[in-house]
Amino acid sequence: MSARAHGNGYTIVENASLRGRNTFGVDARAAMLVEVTQSESLAELFGYAMLKTQDVLVLGEGSNLLLTRDWPGVALSITARGIRVLDDDGRGARIRVEAGEHWNDFVHWSLGRGFAGLENLALIPGTVGAAPIQNIGAYGVEVREFVAEVETWDRVDARFVRFGNAQCEFAYRDSLFKRERDRYVVVAVSFDLPRQRELRLDYAGVRDELAAMRVDTPTPATVAEAIVRLRTRKLPDPARIGNAGSFFKNPIVDAARADALRREHPDLPAWPGGDGGTKLSAAWLIECAGFKGVRDGDAGISERHALVLVNHGHASGAQLWALAQRVREGVRDRFGVELEAEPRVV
Ligand code: FAD
Ligand code: EPU
Repeated sequence: MSARAHGNGYTIVENASLRGRNTFGVDARAAMLVEVTQSESLAELFGYAMLKTQDVLVLGEGSNLLLTRDWPGVALSITARGIRVLDDDGRGARIRVEAGEHWNDFVHWSLGRGFAGLENLALIPGTVGAAPIQNIGAYGVEVREFVAEVETWDRVDARFVRFGNAQCEFAYRDSLFKRERDRYVVVAVSFDLPRQRELRLDYAGVRDELAAMRVDTPTPATVAEAIVRLRTRKLPDPARIGNAGSFFKNPIVDAARADALRREHPDLPAWPGGDGGTKLSAAWLIECAGFKGVRDGDAGISERHALVLVNHGHASGAQLWALAQRVREGVRDRFGVELEAEPRVV
């Protein structure tokens, strides 16, 4: 790996390993890695011919990314940090966070300063810049409830563009940014966070966890702690076993299809999926189709959670993807339900 250039607010490295930059721990390389510490430098960087003409893969912490091959173009990582309160009226505040901040650090920063809302989203890996891409969500809350504005560099029009909440087209694990892949580089996100908010405790397991912690009067901080305990128990830690969290989205099917499936499988977990659809548990479908804990070389399906594809050691991205295809086909054959990958697959 050889450093090629340092500019004002960025570093360029040729033939860079991405192994430590994806939580599957997959060994892949990028022809060029550009690390941006000051987002203003994007205007200068994208003035260069090589960035204009090459494919650009925007990278956060790689916790929702499966690399099945080397990246022949530029991997662009925004590492700019900073949290600033823009406006505070006593009841709540607008807070601007640069894309390179760690999501979980920001959650704890907000709770530590008495803001409420992000407690159910504690311990989700990744950067603040990636949070709006798939509208991260957990335990009954999605980040779209708090996003006021997303600041981006638009690679097509070569200028900075801001999106208000409604323009982001947020949906379950989706947004305009996820659909228009790599067009918008998120440089900062502003959040509106209240100081008081009704706690969301209805997701299965949350109240039981608080009871086990002997918490009678939950606060945002104790809810966050309950979520951390639940997540730590349920999901494998990427520091120990490579994974990207849920590998598939929970599929949304129409009501008639859901009713037919539930008649045949009364214990299949299902929830309202928005727009009249029904969201089914992908984990249940995968487990029932016999894939929980399976292993094909170092590629596997977690024994803890059937929705988590894992790298037991040295699986390549192609091997992990091949197993994911097998799971998808198995679920299609057994239930006639189509699973869609949640992470970005390169
Ligand atoms: P990356 O994986 O690096 O990138 C993900 C996508 O976003 C890519 O398409 C990338 O190009 C794009 N991207 C990243 N940064 C930017 C940017 N600045 N501008 C434009 N595009 C960008 N997700 C949930 O929603 N809920 C969960 O509960 C959850 N649990 C998880 C648990 C584990 C153990 C793991 C490993 C993952 C989990 N995830 C979860 C998925 C993941 O944490 C989120 O998707 C997270 O937002 C990804 O952040 P990242 O910085 O790692 O992004
Ligand atoms: N289940 C099984 N087998 C398993 C695991 C779970 O049958 O091995 C069943 C359980 O019975 C449970 C249901 O699946 O009723 C749901 O399980 P869980 O609460 O773990 O949630 P999930 O639907 O599997 C989703 C998100 C997670 C998020 C949790 C908590 C998606 C794709 N995944 O998982 O997000 O943390 O809910 O809100 O929506 C991610 O996106 O990467 C992610 C981890």
